[in-house]
Amino acid sequence: MCGIIGYIGPRDATSIIFEGLRRLEYRGYDSAGIAILNGDRIYAERAVGKLSNLAARLPALREAVAADPQLLQTGIGHTRWATHGGVTEYNTHPHFSANHCLAVVHNGIVENYAELKQELQSEGVSFVSETDTEVIVHLVDSYVRAGMSFEEAARQALRSLKGSNAVVIMSVRDPGTLITARLGNAGGIVIGLGDGEMFVASDATGIVEHTRRVLFLDDGEMALVRLNDLRIMRLDGRPVAKTTHLIPWDPVSAEKGEFRHFMQKEIAEQARAVVDTLRGRVNFDTGEVVLESLTLDANVPHHIHTVACGTSFYAGLIGKFLLEQIARVRTEVDYGSEFRYRDPLLSPDDVVLGITQSGETADTLAAMSEGRRKGARVWAVVNAVGSQAERLADGFISMRAGPEIGVASTKAFTTSVVDQYLLACAVAQQQARSGLLPDDAPDPFALARELVHAPSLVSHVLEPTPVFEELANRFHDREHFLYLGRGLNYPVALEGALKLKEISYIHAEGYPAGEMKHGPIALIDEQMPVVCIAVRDAVHDKMLSQVQQVKARGGTVIAVATEGDDQIAAAADYVIWVPPAPPLLTPLVTVIPLQRLAYHLALRRGCDVDQPRNLAKSVTVE
Ligand code: G6P
Repeated sequence: MCGIIGYIGPRDATSIIFEGLRRLEYRGYDSAGIAILNGDRIYAERAVGKLSNLAARLPALREAVAADPQLLQTGIGHTRWATHGGVTEYNTHPHFSANHCLAVVHNGIVENYAELKQELQSEGVSFVSETDTEVIVHLVDSYVRAGMSFEEAARQALRSLKGSNAVVIMSVRDPGTLITARLGNAGGIVIGLGDGEMFVASDATGIVEHTRRVLFLDDGEMALVRLNDLRIMRLDGRPVAKTTHLIPWDPVSAEKGEFRHFMQKEIAEQARAVVDTLRGRVNFDTGEVVLESLTLDANVPHHIHTVACGTSFYAGLIGKFLLEQIARVRTEVDYGSEFRYRDPLLSPDDVVLGITQSGETADTLAAMSEGRRKGARVWAVVNAVGSQAERLADGFISMRAGPEIGVASTKAFTTSVVDQYLLACAVAQQQARSGLLPDDAPDPFALARELVHAPSLVSHVLEPTPVFEELANRFHDREHFLYLGRGLNYPVALEGALKLKEISYIHAEGYPAGEMKHGPIALIDEQMPVVCIAVRDAVHDKMLSQVQQVKARGGTVIAVATEGDDQIAAAADYVIWVPPAPPLLTPLVTVIPLQRLAYHLALRRGCDVDQPRNLAKSVTVE
């Protein structure tokens, strides 16, 4: 959603905050702003649009700050994904008190803002923006004016907010101090412990270049951040002891390096990411799977309820096949936003499994909490280290994909599929040990050993080929695409269509191939490219006949097919070749070509691949 950065230290805060915003820009890019507290004044610049617009205004900010040199600078920055109020400069964060002595940046939604605003207005406060954020700063200010210290005023204000909110506030009364808080699941707050400097950010990506020693705030916690004095407490003032985490990411992994786009880099990183997610988890001699942060006891889940959003939801649909086929555990997959409101039937023998790259998606977290409230165990497959999903779960499997910056998710999809495969094998192996694995289940040790092929299969479909550029040149001007797949490749068709929609703005639908004749077939004409995932698997013949049905109606078929498949080659107009793969690992080789196809089509259409319009990387509001 929005990205937040805070800094206290001797260096040029403007540059540090701007660089942090650059790394967090994937969270929102409607507008951005920076405020620096220097001496007894707050200097600020804000600009609508991409960060480059703000960059143009930074020399003025630096100059103003440099005119009054201080030993210490304190600053905050924000990159916005608009929720309350349009994309305008006056709605851009930071927001200020009327006397400009307080500044605030915020991520989330203040649900009772209308009520608070009315109260403040009746006391004579005037508002300059349409945001809910502005009530926070005026509220703190009203308490300060009533005689409270900055800390006490911030605490009182934070206690009056309803909803999920992450906030950072600074005051000219307390230079060298940032007050930050996390209320609910509106995105995280990470505090970075530097060498003679302190950082605050919405996620570690924003500060990992400066420090890898971090603390994460939990729901209902507030922190008073000073150079040599970090105090973390509940909102009633009770101190909280926190553990320091060491972030394993190296700063370079959050850079584009030789690549033109983060998405391109992240697609290319998938072989490495799959190796990392397997590392130390499978004994390839015995096939035994060990998941370091998820303890499986004899109490195998009766029923798994997967909850996720977006790409993670589609990865969950693949996981359903894996968990049911390998572990024989009945699995349902829900959108987080649906599960939490449909009064799901859960028992203590059930597991609610959240899948989330960011570990911050509000709907997924709420669905996981709903699972907990109803007595189920809660597990997670999650990428962001130390995220809320990780901490909310009883056990988790880390995707180990490294930072994913491109808004369209790629490597988190493949790693979460591998992690669910590992989970299915681990659950089945646990059942096998207790003699509970049904006789008709496949050998989970042999299946785990097959994972040894996963990295090379992924590398194979990442090899350079001109096919994607050719297809992009041929089809970039189309308005609609249809994606068809069956079985495990039906969710892959959904994900392929989602990738195309997200970054190229071409309307695309994913459909189970067998359902085509019940509706979508009416759409097919020579203007409609149909991507058919038709690899050599148990439903190959059916897919071949689907390809022929599309051709019979004048459609153009782009097939994803297994190398050497002459039948498909003869029937389709274009073929993207993939290597033969073990049946349950097929999605790894079929999804990557669809990511690459979407990337090239979007590029050819001149779209902003990493920051598509209206989207945000982590959606921390409902
Ligand atoms: C947003 C992103 C998607 C992502 C979804 C779920 O919509 O744009 O790329 O798949 O959120 O995110 P999560 O972090 O929970 O996997």
